[in-house]
Amino acid sequence: MAKMETKTSLLDNMIGVGDMVLLEPLNEDTFINNLKKRFDHSEIYTYIGSVVISLNPYRSLPIYSPEKVEEYRNRNFYELSPHIFALSDEAYRSLRDQDKDQCILITGESGAGKTEASKLVMSYVAAVCGKGAEVNQVKEQLLQSNPVLEAFGNAKTVRNDNSSRFGKYMDIEFDFKGDPLGGVISNYLLEKSRVVKQPRGERNFHIFYQILSGGSEDLLCRLKLERDFSRYNYLGLDSARVNGVDDAANFRTVRNAMQIVGFMDHETQSVFEVVAAVLKLGNIEFKPESRVNGLDESKIKDKNELKEICELTGIDQSVLERAFSFRTVEAKQEKVSTTLNVAQAYYARDALAKNLYSRLFSWLVTRINESIKAQTKVRKKVMGVLDIYGFEIFEDGENSFEQFIINYCNEKLQQIFIELTLKEEQEEYIREGIEWTHIEYFNNAIICDLIENNQTGILAMLDEECLRPGTVTDDTFLEKLNQICATHQHFESRMSKCSRFLNDTSLPHCCFRIQHYAGKVMYQVEGFVDKNNDLLYRDLSQAMWKANHSLIKDLFPEGNPAKINLKRPPTAGSQFKASVATLMKNLQTKNPNYIRCIKPNDKKAAHIFNDALVCHQVRYLGLLENVRVRRAGYAFRQPYEPCLERYKMLCKQTWPHWRGPARDGVKVLFNDLEIPEEEYSFGRSKIFIRNPRTLFKLEDLRKQRLEDLATLIQKIYRGWKCRTHFLLMKKSQIVIASWYRRYAQQKKYQKIKSSAIVVQSYIRGWKARKLLRELKHQKRCNKAVTTIAAYWHGTQVRREYRKFFRANAGKKISEFILQKIIQKYFLEMKTKMPSLSPVDKNWPARPYLFLDSTHNELKRIFHLWRCKKYRDQFTDQQKLVYEEKLEASELFKDKKALYPASVGQPFQGAYLEISKNPKYKKLKDAVDEKIIIAEVVNKINRANGKATSRIFLLTNSNVLLADQKSGNIKSEVPLGDVTKVSMSSQNDGFFAVHLKEGSGAAGKGDFLFSSDHLIEMATKLYRTTLSQTKQKLNIEISDEFLVQFRQDKVCVKFIQGNQRNGNVPTCKRKNNRLLEVAVP
Ligand SMILES: Nc1ncnc2c1ncn2[C@@H]1O[C@H](COP(=O)(O)OP(=O)(O)O)[C@@H](O)[C@H]1O
Ligand SMILES: [Mg+2]
Repeated sequence: MAKMETKTSLLDNMIGVGDMVLLEPLNEDTFINNLKKRFDHSEIYTYIGSVVISLNPYRSLPIYSPEKVEEYRNRNFYELSPHIFALSDEAYRSLRDQDKDQCILITGESGAGKTEASKLVMSYVAAVCGKGAEVNQVKEQLLQSNPVLEAFGNAKTVRNDNSSRFGKYMDIEFDFKGDPLGGVISNYLLEKSRVVKQPRGERNFHIFYQILSGGSEDLLCRLKLERDFSRYNYLGLDSARVNGVDDAANFRTVRNAMQIVGFMDHETQSVFEVVAAVLKLGNIEFKPESRVNGLDESKIKDKNELKEICELTGIDQSVLERAFSFRTVEAKQEKVSTTLNVAQAYYARDALAKNLYSRLFSWLVTRINESIKAQTKVRKKVMGVLDIYGFEIFEDGENSFEQFIINYCNEKLQQIFIELTLKEEQEEYIREGIEWTHIEYFNNAIICDLIENNQTGILAMLDEECLRPGTVTDDTFLEKLNQICATHQHFESRMSKCSRFLNDTSLPHCCFRIQHYAGKVMYQVEGFVDKNNDLLYRDLSQAMWKANHSLIKDLFPEGNPAKINLKRPPTAGSQFKASVATLMKNLQTKNPNYIRCIKPNDKKAAHIFNDALVCHQVRYLGLLENVRVRRAGYAFRQPYEPCLERYKMLCKQTWPHWRGPARDGVKVLFNDLEIPEEEYSFGRSKIFIRNPRTLFKLEDLRKQRLEDLATLIQKIYRGWKCRTHFLLMKKSQIVIASWYRRYAQQKKYQKIKSSAIVVQSYIRGWKARKLLRELKHQKRCNKAVTTIAAYWHGTQVRREYRKFFRANAGKKISEFILQKIIQKYFLEMKTKMPSLSPVDKNWPARPYLFLDSTHNELKRIFHLWRCKKYRDQFTDQQKLVYEEKLEASELFKDKKALYPASVGQPFQGAYLEISKNPKYKKLKDAVDEKIIIAEVVNKINRANGKATSRIFLLTNSNVLLADQKSGNIKSEVPLGDVTKVSMSSQNDGFFAVHLKEGSGAAGKGDFLFSSDHLIEMATKLYRTTLSQTKQKLNIEISDEFLVQFRQDKVCVKFIQGNQRNGNVPTCKRKNNRLLEVAVP
């Protein structure tokens, strides 16, 4: 397998040297150059061991993002490139995990970046410590206390646009889990002289400008302020606006922050009222007024401003006015009131303004503390962040009491640094029994002593002067200094007894100079006494206490006449000394973490690195000595247990568990890793590692090893996971298989079982049926046998006994009776026979039902017999007549209404006796054939329907029509030309004779006749035609038929019910096409 790419060491890719301890060779130049090189590459942080050097970049760098926070979170100090977050993380973790209270000491000159650093530390800790709504609120309040305090306590100075004018130490409190609970802020000596006067090029505290720029019209109106800065004497005009600072926006931020921190609206309002009052105080001016007794007296020039202040603060105007004009001194129960001259009045005014403002500031801190105070009483872990004003020197010698105090404070911090890093470290080696050669360093304890010594210290002497009765001035104070401190190495004064500085023209007479650890500072003695006294006339404090304004009243508790305290309040100097002493004590109980801020240039500009300036700071901060001690000593130390815990995975013997003393474990480990012996030493409780390189190497190895271990764990875990998964699958498979098998077997068994049952049932059924059949057969056999036997016996018995029974008697009797009945029937019939007339319908009644068919048959036979008898009597003539009648019956019976009437009439044929009548001699001669019909008929005239008589003759072959009178033949039609005879179904004698079309006789068309003997004529015509032509004449019986008259076809229609002409049918021509025959 390819070897994993080795991780690059921390030391690679680093710009310059990240830890000065590694610098080779080490001297001032290389030190400065390394800083410079890193600074040029935007690497502003460099380590000296665990101390962080921070260079102010004066521009925003992209190294504080949340991703960076995550990157540094829970990482070892040396793991990543130097960063303030690494220090913060280290501090937070040892607080959380090792229960060690921490303090972050941030030092450096004004403008070096201390305040920014402190904010970065706080925001990092806030980002990495606990989560949750409650915790977040605490964090938010802690963070938001900054903008409030900065607005009231910071100002633009020549060194820094946002210079802290107060010292601040903040304890952040955590619970056992490392969740923030709250905090406590301590403030140190606000530079209150700034309220009434600012050095050239500097500004008053931000809040004044912020209110004026950002306050709404309404707010300004309520505060009786005007937006114009120039209206206010207290606001330095030459730099009222600062580049890149938006006072209005900042004001909104501050108000928002105040809200978050928990200020009530009325509190915020009161705070702004006090600020406004301070601002307006500056505008009160006095003019001299002489009194009769010669005493100077002052008077307020324009009372308008005073009036407004009083309205704003609820002070009685007259009370305040009096307080500005008189001073009451109480001594031994005696009250003496003196007038104030103009200068005193101004002094009083400024003192009031300063006091008002500084007390307001302290109140703000107290108020914030109230809000951010931890709510529980449980034991807390504490992380202190100290951001105190930086070392300050005004080159023009304008250094006053404030600078003295500030620098004293820095001196003390340097002292603690020396104590804890240089001194403590060297002492630790001795304590731990490590061989050690002492390294020289400058200890500034001597300077601290010069200032704070209780008998001979400058502060003590200043207090002495202030308390001394008699005239006390700044000069008397200087004189005293000159006497007492003359011999001190670090004190310089023209007038001192020590003649060293008699001719030093750079040192004015009214000044003294102190060689601070960070350089010489010349202090102007003017104002020291006053500022130390910090006096506010009692009349003023009483006036303030009387104010109808709860905040102002609270700020001046000593104004309460009931609590008059004649004892002098402690001086500013002693107060400060005491609070610094407390602070130092506090810091010493905690584990210190140092951030040493360095200012790369004086111009507040980015990218400029002023070597000389940096060199100066490096020198007085004692950074080189720091490195030297570190190098000569050991860069890194750690108690054996945590060290073994951290690196034990690097050696087989110690991994995973080392049983035995941790010290031996570390020994084994280091031997195994083949670390050269000179690289480490074994102390009593700690291992000391000389070179950070070794540590880095250890870290690199650890990192590598951790990756391997991670891979191993991963591998084993994956294996385990796969195996578990496999086993689970296997188990599941077995379960499934067993279930399935069971199921399959069950199925199979059920199938076999049901088949067995079926087979069984069939067999049983078959057996049963077989048995049944046998039983049935047996039964039948038995029965048959019984029957046969019975019959047999019966037969036997009958045969034997027949002769004894009259078995056939009944039958014979019945046969006999029947014969007798039939006999009787026939004999009776003989007598009852009806007549022989064929039409006689009589027949004797049937005597017996069973003779019914016989009786009917007999009747039929009889009838046929008598008909035969009747027919046998006929002559040939009579036979013919009956034949004709029969023919007529077949043709017309039930077809023509006229027919029944014809039945009784004999067919005579020759009604006209042509041969006998001479009239018809000619006609008789013309006809030589036998005449079948000779009769008079009415021929219907086709024109009008009238009838004309004609003689109708039918011979064997012709039909002849002749005139009735003359006997002349009118028409002769051979029978072959007659095609049809038409007639109605009714009781009339009309009939039409249709002729064959185109025949000779058809010239005049068909004939329409009327005759009384229609049935006879039609029958004879039919019979003759049949015998003559062997064809059946078509006889059409219809109540409407067509007749061809010449060319016309005329319809003959028969209608019934016309009785007009009696009982005679009438014919009438209706139109060309219709002849209507009315039949009665
Ligand atoms: N880490 C930083 N990154 C960017 N700008 C910084 C940083 N530190 C300081 N500054 C700049 O320097 C100015 C002065 O810093 P500040 O912390 O107020 O100084 P100090 O408190 O030491 O007097 C800040 O207003 C800011 O503009
Ligand atoms: Mg600051």
